Amino acid sequence: MRYTGLIENYRDRLPVSETTKLISLGEGNTPLIRLENIPAILGKDVDIYIKYEGLNPTGSFKDRGMTMAVTKAVEAGSKAIICASTGNTSAAAAAYAARAGIKAFVLIPEGKIALGKLAQAMIHGAVIIQIKGNFDDGMRLVKEVADHAPVAIVNSINPYRLQGQKTAAFEIIEELGDAPDYHCLPVGNAGNISAHWMGYKEYFKDGKAAKTPIMVGYQAAGSAPFVKGAMIDNPETIATAIRIGHPQSWDLAHTVKEESKGWFKAISDKRILATQKLLTEKEGIFCEPASAASLAGLIHDIQHGHIPDKSKIVCTLTGHGLKDPDVAISQCNDAMININPVMSEVRDAILNNM
Ligand code: F0G
Repeated sequence: MRYTGLIENYRDRLPVSETTKLISLGEGNTPLIRLENIPAILGKDVDIYIKYEGLNPTGSFKDRGMTMAVTKAVEAGSKAIICASTGNTSAAAAAYAARAGIKAFVLIPEGKIALGKLAQAMIHGAVIIQIKGNFDDGMRLVKEVADHAPVAIVNSINPYRLQGQKTAAFEIIEELGDAPDYHCLPVGNAGNISAHWMGYKEYFKDGKAAKTPIMVGYQAAGSAPFVKGAMIDNPETIATAIRIGHPQSWDLAHTVKEESKGWFKAISDKRILATQKLLTEKEGIFCEPASAASLAGLIHDIQHGHIPDKSKIVCTLTGHGLKDPDVAISQCNDAMININPVMSEVRDAILNNM
Protein backbone atom coordinates (compact mmCIF):
# COMPACT_ATOMS: atom_id res chain seq x y z
CA MET A 1 0.00 0.00 0.00
CA ARG A 2 1.22 3.53 -0.75
CA TYR A 3 2.72 5.18 2.33
CA THR A 4 0.90 8.47 2.92
CA GLY A 5 2.39 9.79 6.13
CA LEU A 6 2.47 9.11 9.82
CA ILE A 7 -1.03 10.28 10.74
CA GLU A 8 -2.60 7.83 8.29
CA ASN A 9 -0.21 5.12 9.49
CA TYR A 10 -0.97 5.61 13.20
CA ARG A 11 -4.50 7.00 12.90
CA ASP A 12 -5.80 5.03 15.90
CA ARG A 13 -3.04 6.42 18.15
CA LEU A 14 -3.37 10.08 17.18
CA PRO A 15 -6.08 12.66 17.94
CA VAL A 16 -7.80 12.71 14.55
CA SER A 17 -11.25 11.60 13.46
CA GLU A 18 -12.60 9.98 10.30
CA THR A 19 -13.43 13.37 8.88
CA THR A 20 -10.22 15.21 9.75
CA LYS A 21 -8.53 16.52 6.60
CA LEU A 22 -4.89 15.41 6.88
CA ILE A 23 -2.14 17.86 5.95
CA SER A 24 0.73 15.57 5.06
CA LEU A 25 3.85 15.43 2.93
CA GLY A 26 4.54 11.73 3.51
CA GLU A 27 6.63 12.36 6.64
CA GLY A 28 7.88 9.61 8.94
CA ASN A 29 8.93 6.05 8.01
CA THR A 30 12.58 7.15 8.10
CA PRO A 31 15.46 4.65 7.82
CA LEU A 32 17.04 2.98 10.82
CA ILE A 33 20.64 2.49 9.72
CA ARG A 34 23.03 0.19 11.59
CA LEU A 35 26.51 1.66 12.00
CA GLU A 36 29.06 -0.69 10.48
CA ASN A 37 32.39 1.05 10.94
CA ILE A 38 32.30 3.35 13.97
CA PRO A 39 31.88 0.60 16.63
CA ALA A 40 35.01 -1.10 15.26
CA ILE A 41 36.89 2.20 15.30
CA LEU A 42 35.88 2.59 18.96
CA GLY A 43 36.97 -1.00 19.58
CA LYS A 44 33.64 -1.68 21.28
CA ASP A 45 31.05 -4.41 20.91
CA VAL A 46 27.98 -2.17 20.71
CA ASP A 47 25.04 -2.21 18.31
CA ILE A 48 24.29 1.36 17.21
CA TYR A 49 21.36 2.31 14.99
CA ILE A 50 20.87 5.73 13.48
CA LYS A 51 17.28 6.96 13.13
CA TYR A 52 17.88 9.24 10.17
CA GLU A 53 15.26 11.94 10.66
CA GLY A 54 17.01 14.16 8.15
CA LEU A 55 15.18 12.17 5.49
CA ASN A 56 11.82 13.67 6.37
CA PRO A 57 10.26 15.90 3.65
CA THR A 58 11.77 19.16 4.91
CA GLY A 59 14.93 17.48 6.18
CA SER A 60 14.23 17.27 9.91
CA PHE A 61 12.15 15.50 12.56
CA LYS A 62 9.98 18.62 12.84
CA ASP A 63 7.76 17.30 10.05
CA ARG A 64 6.42 14.61 12.38
CA GLY A 65 5.06 17.22 14.73
CA MET A 66 4.14 19.73 12.06
CA THR A 67 1.82 17.39 10.13
CA MET A 68 -0.20 16.99 13.35
CA ALA A 69 -0.06 20.63 14.44
CA VAL A 70 -1.09 22.00 11.04
CA THR A 71 -3.75 19.33 10.54
CA LYS A 72 -5.33 20.31 13.88
CA ALA A 73 -4.92 24.05 13.24
CA VAL A 74 -6.73 23.72 9.92
CA GLU A 75 -9.42 21.55 11.53
CA ALA A 76 -9.96 24.30 14.11
CA GLY A 77 -10.34 26.86 11.33
CA SER A 78 -7.02 28.68 11.72
CA LYS A 79 -5.92 30.73 8.74
CA ALA A 80 -2.39 31.34 10.07
CA ILE A 81 0.26 29.65 12.16
CA ILE A 82 3.21 31.12 14.01
CA CYS A 83 6.41 29.82 15.57
CA ALA A 84 9.73 30.92 16.98
CA SER A 85 12.54 28.86 15.57
CA THR A 86 16.23 28.14 15.38
CA GLY A 87 15.48 27.15 11.78
CA ASN A 88 14.02 23.69 11.33
CA THR A 89 10.62 24.42 12.83
CA SER A 90 10.32 27.46 10.58
CA ALA A 91 11.15 25.34 7.51
CA ALA A 92 8.55 22.73 8.45
CA ALA A 93 5.92 25.33 9.39
CA ALA A 94 6.46 27.12 6.07
CA ALA A 95 6.13 23.92 4.04
CA TYR A 96 3.05 22.53 5.81
CA ALA A 97 1.35 25.94 5.76
CA ALA A 98 1.97 26.08 2.01
CA ARG A 99 0.48 22.61 1.65
CA ALA A 100 -2.58 23.65 3.66
CA GLY A 101 -2.99 26.98 1.90
CA ILE A 102 -2.64 29.03 5.08
CA LYS A 103 -0.14 31.65 6.19
CA ALA A 104 3.03 30.99 8.25
CA PHE A 105 4.75 33.61 10.39
CA VAL A 106 8.19 32.65 11.67
CA LEU A 107 10.34 34.48 14.22
CA ILE A 108 14.02 33.71 13.80
CA PRO A 109 17.15 34.98 15.59
CA GLU A 110 18.97 37.38 13.30
CA GLY A 111 22.11 35.87 11.77
CA LYS A 112 21.84 32.65 13.76
CA ILE A 113 19.98 30.29 11.50
CA ALA A 114 21.63 27.93 9.04
CA LEU A 115 21.40 28.86 5.36
CA GLY A 116 19.42 25.84 4.18
CA LYS A 117 16.69 26.45 6.75
CA LEU A 118 16.42 30.11 5.84
CA ALA A 119 16.16 29.18 2.16
CA GLN A 120 13.31 26.78 2.95
CA ALA A 121 11.31 29.27 5.00
CA MET A 122 11.75 31.89 2.26
CA ILE A 123 10.94 29.73 -0.77
CA HIS A 124 7.80 28.29 0.85
CA GLY A 125 6.54 31.82 1.32
CA ALA A 126 6.57 32.22 5.10
CA VAL A 127 6.53 35.73 6.49
CA ILE A 128 9.94 35.91 8.10
CA ILE A 129 10.34 38.12 11.15
CA GLN A 130 13.99 38.42 12.15
CA ILE A 131 14.51 39.49 15.71
CA LYS A 132 17.53 41.10 17.31
CA GLY A 133 17.57 38.42 19.96
CA ASN A 134 17.81 34.65 20.35
CA PHE A 135 15.31 31.79 20.15
CA ASP A 136 14.23 32.29 23.75
CA ASP A 137 13.27 35.91 23.02
CA GLY A 138 11.32 34.72 19.98
CA MET A 139 9.47 32.09 21.99
CA ARG A 140 8.47 34.63 24.64
CA LEU A 141 7.15 36.98 21.93
CA VAL A 142 5.21 34.24 20.12
CA LYS A 143 3.40 33.30 23.32
CA GLU A 144 2.53 36.95 23.96
CA VAL A 145 1.38 37.82 20.46
CA ALA A 146 -0.87 34.74 20.15
CA ASP A 147 -3.21 36.48 22.60
CA HIS A 148 -3.36 39.56 20.37
CA ALA A 149 -3.51 38.15 16.83
CA PRO A 150 -5.42 35.28 15.12
CA VAL A 151 -2.51 32.84 14.85
CA ALA A 152 -2.07 29.24 16.06
CA ILE A 153 1.24 28.48 17.77
CA VAL A 154 3.00 25.47 16.24
CA ASN A 155 6.02 25.33 18.53
CA SER A 156 6.36 22.17 20.62
CA ILE A 157 4.29 23.75 23.41
CA ASN A 158 1.44 22.84 21.05
CA PRO A 159 0.54 19.35 22.38
CA TYR A 160 -0.23 17.99 18.91
CA ARG A 161 3.45 18.43 17.99
CA LEU A 162 4.59 15.85 20.55
CA GLN A 163 1.77 13.51 19.51
CA GLY A 164 3.17 13.45 15.99
CA GLN A 165 6.76 13.14 17.16
CA LYS A 166 6.05 10.14 19.41
CA THR A 167 5.56 8.01 16.28
CA ALA A 168 9.33 7.79 15.80
CA ALA A 169 9.45 5.52 18.86
CA PHE A 170 6.71 3.31 17.34
CA GLU A 171 8.70 2.90 14.14
CA ILE A 172 11.85 1.95 16.06
CA ILE A 173 10.06 -0.69 18.13
CA GLU A 174 8.40 -2.15 15.03
CA GLU A 175 11.71 -2.39 13.24
CA LEU A 176 13.84 -3.76 16.10
CA GLY A 177 11.09 -5.97 17.51
CA ASP A 178 11.48 -4.23 20.88
CA ALA A 179 12.72 -0.97 22.37
CA PRO A 180 16.52 -0.52 22.37
CA ASP A 181 18.50 -0.46 25.63
CA TYR A 182 19.38 3.22 25.18
CA HIS A 183 17.99 6.04 23.08
CA CYS A 184 20.19 9.11 22.55
CA LEU A 185 18.97 12.48 21.28
CA PRO A 186 20.21 16.05 20.99
CA VAL A 187 18.23 18.30 23.33
CA GLY A 188 17.14 21.91 22.89
CA ASN A 189 13.61 22.57 24.15
CA ALA A 190 13.41 18.87 25.06
CA GLY A 191 10.16 18.39 23.16
CA ASN A 192 11.54 15.56 21.08
CA ILE A 193 13.03 13.52 23.93
CA SER A 194 9.71 13.91 25.78
CA ALA A 195 7.73 12.83 22.70
CA HIS A 196 9.90 9.75 22.22
CA TRP A 197 9.40 8.79 25.85
CA MET A 198 5.62 9.11 25.40
CA GLY A 199 5.81 6.82 22.38
CA TYR A 200 7.95 4.21 24.13
CA LYS A 201 5.69 4.18 27.18
CA GLU A 202 2.58 3.88 25.04
CA TYR A 203 3.86 0.83 23.15
CA PHE A 204 5.16 -0.72 26.38
CA LYS A 205 1.78 -0.27 28.07
CA ASP A 206 0.02 -1.88 25.12
CA GLY A 207 2.37 -4.87 25.09
CA LYS A 208 4.02 -3.94 21.81
CA ALA A 209 7.42 -3.69 23.53
CA ALA A 210 8.83 -5.71 26.42
CA LYS A 211 10.78 -2.79 27.87
CA THR A 212 11.44 0.94 27.61
CA PRO A 213 14.86 2.40 26.88
CA ILE A 214 17.11 4.54 29.05
CA MET A 215 16.78 8.02 27.55
CA VAL A 216 19.95 10.10 27.19
CA GLY A 217 19.92 13.76 26.18
CA TYR A 218 22.94 15.64 24.91
CA GLN A 219 23.30 19.40 24.86
CA ALA A 220 25.96 21.68 23.39
CA ALA A 221 28.30 22.77 26.17
CA GLY A 222 27.63 26.50 25.71
CA SER A 223 23.92 25.90 25.71
CA ALA A 224 23.23 23.25 28.34
CA PRO A 225 20.58 24.36 30.84
CA PHE A 226 19.59 20.77 31.69
CA VAL A 227 23.16 19.95 32.62
CA LYS A 228 23.54 23.16 34.61
CA GLY A 229 20.18 22.63 36.29
CA ALA A 230 19.13 26.19 35.53
CA MET A 231 18.08 28.38 32.62
CA ILE A 232 20.83 30.17 30.67
CA ASP A 233 20.42 33.70 29.30
CA ASN A 234 23.08 33.79 26.59
CA PRO A 235 23.39 30.33 25.04
CA GLU A 236 26.11 29.88 22.41
CA THR A 237 27.03 27.00 20.14
CA ILE A 238 27.95 26.30 16.53
CA ALA A 239 25.00 23.87 16.58
CA THR A 240 22.51 26.72 16.08
CA ALA A 241 19.51 24.36 16.08
CA ILE A 242 19.98 23.76 19.81
CA ARG A 243 21.11 27.25 20.78
CA ILE A 244 18.42 27.44 23.48
CA GLY A 245 18.82 28.60 27.07
CA HIS A 246 15.21 28.52 28.29
CA PRO A 247 13.81 25.11 27.24
CA GLN A 248 10.05 24.91 26.91
CA SER A 249 9.67 21.29 28.07
CA TRP A 250 11.66 21.72 31.31
CA ASP A 251 9.40 19.63 33.56
CA LEU A 252 8.62 16.98 30.96
CA ALA A 253 12.34 16.43 30.34
CA HIS A 254 13.08 15.93 34.01
CA THR A 255 10.29 13.38 34.20
CA VAL A 256 11.82 11.53 31.24
CA LYS A 257 15.19 11.48 32.97
CA GLU A 258 13.78 10.16 36.22
CA GLU A 259 11.34 7.62 34.78
CA SER A 260 13.79 6.19 32.26
CA LYS A 261 16.80 6.39 34.61
CA GLY A 262 18.60 8.43 31.99
CA TRP A 263 20.83 11.49 32.07
CA PHE A 264 21.79 14.74 30.33
CA LYS A 265 25.32 15.57 29.32
CA ALA A 266 27.11 18.51 27.70
CA ILE A 267 29.29 18.04 24.62
CA SER A 268 31.78 20.61 23.31
CA ASP A 269 31.35 22.17 19.87
CA LYS A 270 34.71 20.67 18.92
CA ARG A 271 33.49 17.13 19.61
CA ILE A 272 30.18 17.82 17.87
CA LEU A 273 31.97 18.88 14.69
CA ALA A 274 34.49 16.03 14.86
CA THR A 275 31.60 13.57 15.13
CA GLN A 276 29.72 15.14 12.24
CA LYS A 277 32.84 14.56 10.13
CA LEU A 278 33.45 11.05 11.45
CA LEU A 279 29.93 10.03 10.54
CA THR A 280 30.16 11.42 7.02
CA GLU A 281 33.61 9.96 6.36
CA LYS A 282 33.19 6.54 7.97
CA GLU A 283 29.51 5.75 7.48
CA GLY A 284 28.31 7.95 4.61
CA ILE A 285 25.68 9.65 6.74
CA PHE A 286 25.44 13.44 6.68
CA CYS A 287 23.67 15.24 9.51
CA GLU A 288 23.66 18.81 10.75
CA PRO A 289 25.84 19.79 13.76
CA ALA A 290 23.05 19.70 16.36
CA SER A 291 22.20 16.16 15.30
CA ALA A 292 25.81 15.06 15.65
CA ALA A 293 25.61 16.02 19.33
CA SER A 294 23.70 12.79 20.01
CA LEU A 295 26.34 10.53 18.49
CA ALA A 296 29.18 12.63 19.96
CA GLY A 297 27.65 12.18 23.39
CA LEU A 298 27.03 8.49 22.83
CA ILE A 299 30.65 7.92 21.81
CA HIS A 300 31.80 9.78 24.92
CA ASP A 301 29.56 7.69 27.17
CA ILE A 302 30.63 4.42 25.53
CA GLN A 303 34.31 5.33 25.89
CA HIS A 304 33.84 6.28 29.54
CA GLY A 305 31.99 3.08 30.42
CA HIS A 306 28.60 4.71 31.06
CA ILE A 307 27.08 2.56 28.31
CA PRO A 308 28.28 -1.04 28.48
CA ASP A 309 29.35 -3.52 25.81
CA LYS A 310 26.55 -5.52 24.13
CA SER A 311 24.14 -2.59 24.40
CA LYS A 312 21.65 -1.92 21.64
CA ILE A 313 21.44 1.83 21.10
CA VAL A 314 19.35 4.09 18.88
CA CYS A 315 20.71 7.51 18.14
CA THR A 316 18.40 10.07 16.54
CA LEU A 317 19.97 12.27 13.88
CA THR A 318 17.42 15.06 13.90
CA GLY A 319 18.32 17.06 10.79
CA HIS A 320 20.02 16.64 7.41
CA GLY A 321 23.56 17.90 6.87
CA LEU A 322 22.48 20.00 3.87
CA LYS A 323 20.64 22.27 6.29
CA ASP A 324 23.93 23.91 7.20
CA PRO A 325 26.28 23.93 4.20
CA ASP A 326 28.47 26.69 5.66
CA VAL A 327 29.54 24.65 8.66
CA ALA A 328 30.03 21.56 6.50
CA ILE A 329 32.34 23.34 4.06
CA SER A 330 34.26 25.07 6.85
CA GLN A 331 35.08 21.59 8.20
CA CYS A 332 36.88 20.55 5.01
CA ASN A 333 40.50 21.61 4.71
CA ASP A 334 41.51 19.66 1.62
CA ALA A 335 41.93 22.07 -1.26
CA MET A 336 40.14 21.24 -4.48
CA ILE A 337 42.36 20.19 -7.38
CA ASN A 338 42.21 22.61 -10.29
CA ILE A 339 43.30 21.32 -13.66
CA ASN A 340 43.13 21.97 -17.38
CA PRO A 341 40.56 19.84 -19.26
CA VAL A 342 43.08 17.23 -20.46
CA MET A 343 43.22 13.52 -19.65
CA SER A 344 46.83 13.50 -18.43
CA GLU A 345 46.04 16.03 -15.71
CA VAL A 346 42.99 14.06 -14.55
CA ARG A 347 45.12 10.91 -14.49
CA ASP A 348 47.81 12.66 -12.42
CA ALA A 349 45.17 13.97 -10.03
CA ILE A 350 43.97 10.39 -9.51
CA LEU A 351 47.38 8.76 -9.21
CA ASN A 352 48.67 11.43 -6.81
CA ASN A 353 45.70 11.00 -4.52
CA MET A 354 45.15 7.23 -4.36
N1 F0G B 1 18.04 18.87 16.51
C1 F0G B 1 17.65 19.74 15.57
C2 F0G B 1 18.22 19.60 14.21
C3 F0G B 1 16.71 20.74 15.89
O1 F0G B 1 16.32 21.59 14.95
C4 F0G B 1 16.21 20.83 17.21
C5 F0G B 1 15.26 21.88 17.58
C6 F0G B 1 16.65 19.88 18.14
C7 F0G B 1 17.56 18.92 17.76
C8 F0G B 1 16.18 19.88 19.55
O2 F0G B 1 14.90 19.37 19.66
O3 F0G B 1 13.92 21.24 20.93
O4 F0G B 1 12.75 19.06 20.76
O5 F0G B 1 14.80 19.29 22.15
N2 F0G B 1 14.95 22.84 16.83
C9 F0G B 1 13.91 23.82 17.12
C10 F0G B 1 13.66 24.69 15.90
C11 F0G B 1 14.14 24.59 18.35
O6 F0G B 1 13.22 25.83 16.04
O7 F0G B 1 13.88 24.23 14.78
P1 F0G B 1 14.03 19.76 20.97
